[in-house]
Amino acid sequence: MGYDIIEKVTELSLSGLRLDAKLARAARFILDALPYEQCVFYILDPDGKAFVKRAFAGVDKALICSYGATDGLPGLVKKKKGPVEAYKLDTASTVWEGVNDAGLKGYKSALAYPLRDKETFFGVVYLKSARKASLSKSKRRTLGIIALQASSFIKCADLAESHERIHRDLLKIEERLASSEKLMALGDMAATLAHEIRNPLLSIGGFAGRLKKHLGPGSPGIPYVEQVLKEVVRLEKLMNGVTGFIKDSAVSLKPDDLNGIMEEVLALFDDEFKAHNITIQRDFSEGAMGVAADREQLKIAFDNLIVNAIQSMEHGGALRISTSHEGGRAVVSIADSGGGIEPGNLGYIFNPFFTTKTHGTGLGLPITNSIILRHKGLIEVENNPGVGVTFRVTLPYLRQLRSAC
Ligand SMILES: Nc1ncnc2c1ncn2[C@@H]1O[C@H](COP(=O)(O)OP(=O)(O)OP(=O)(O)O)[C@@H](O)[C@H]1O
Ligand SMILES: [Mg+2]
Repeated sequence: MGYDIIEKVTELSLSGLRLDAKLARAARFILDALPYEQCVFYILDPDGKAFVKRAFAGVDKALICSYGATDGLPGLVKKKKGPVEAYKLDTASTVWEGVNDAGLKGYKSALAYPLRDKETFFGVVYLKSARKASLSKSKRRTLGIIALQASSFIKCADLAESHERIHRDLLKIEERLASSEKLMALGDMAATLAHEIRNPLLSIGGFAGRLKKHLGPGSPGIPYVEQVLKEVVRLEKLMNGVTGFIKDSAVSLKPDDLNGIMEEVLALFDDEFKAHNITIQRDFSEGAMGVAADREQLKIAFDNLIVNAIQSMEHGGALRISTSHEGGRAVVSIADSGGGIEPGNLGYIFNPFFTTKTHGTGLGLPITNSIILRHKGLIEVENNPGVGVTFRVTLPYLRQLRSAC
């Protein structure tokens, strides 16, 4: 064991193999060079709760698929932040120095080595032998180098995965931007139309009101006039939506606290939540959540999402609002229990004027989307038909909020 294995493992790092295949080959190389019969790579899952077997080589005797984060020798390595070497005479026993590990059954020697870099603990490489195995100082050092190389495989795979995720997000943003540009063009046209329609609409409303007074209570014409007034109100709402949509085109961003914005938006709905029998669960991150925000615009965006949620839960339900900080991004998620969106409609909900509501304008979500995009954010939908919808808004996180404010 020496330069040969280091060379082979370094070549692996340059190969285009996927993580599992790289680790499986590294495990094979280790067994070829060291007096062990089983070599397993366990990686800590993203929430740090369990070690999961990612690759192994050698015999499959007492091969454990996963360990709790504090269990067995892998848990001990994590606790000690260093290698653990176990030796026991009784091969049937699964306990070593008070640590119970079913993976020790049938073995006399075990060596578990941490996979880590300066900041992160990734997992463990776990070696076992049915005989007494001991390593010279130089072999031990070489194993340390292999463990470091394996850690770099894992880190590269993590980076590649987050790179892919960012790429996917960018594609989504690009798609939405393209439709948002189309929207703007459509918006210009709609604004001209709205302007032309608004004045005659005002006259129709005004005259219908006067006609209602003129006819007096009990007149058979009243229901017709009332219908005209109702439709005028609906059209006015539509026109306001269209002109509001155009007006929105510029945002003025300032450092702000997203949790504060959400609190302010929610406070406006207190009465409505009660009236509709909706229970609220707030799950806000601790402290301030920095974002570059046009506060009024963001309030409109979240307002639209909450109105939709309330409308989907007319006969009661639960609304869960949570905020969190995920890898450089501030995330707000708004989850309702209103039964979700008809799967066939899902592809259209961000299109202007798409609505399934009798009195909807279909502008709520397109407006929300274009506000979020202008904040360099992204809005995603997780639809659970028959259960509810979760809208997830992601915005760039502003770390230095306190100093900036
Ligand atoms: N939380 C939700 N639950 C179920 N369906 C939803 C939800 N949010 C949006 N939708 C669907 O998406 C459609 C479009 O929503 P959008 O907010 O753009 O318009 P609207 O709510 O219909 O009208 P407006 O917002 O102008 O009152 C809705 O008509 C509804 O079918
Ligand atoms: Mg709406």
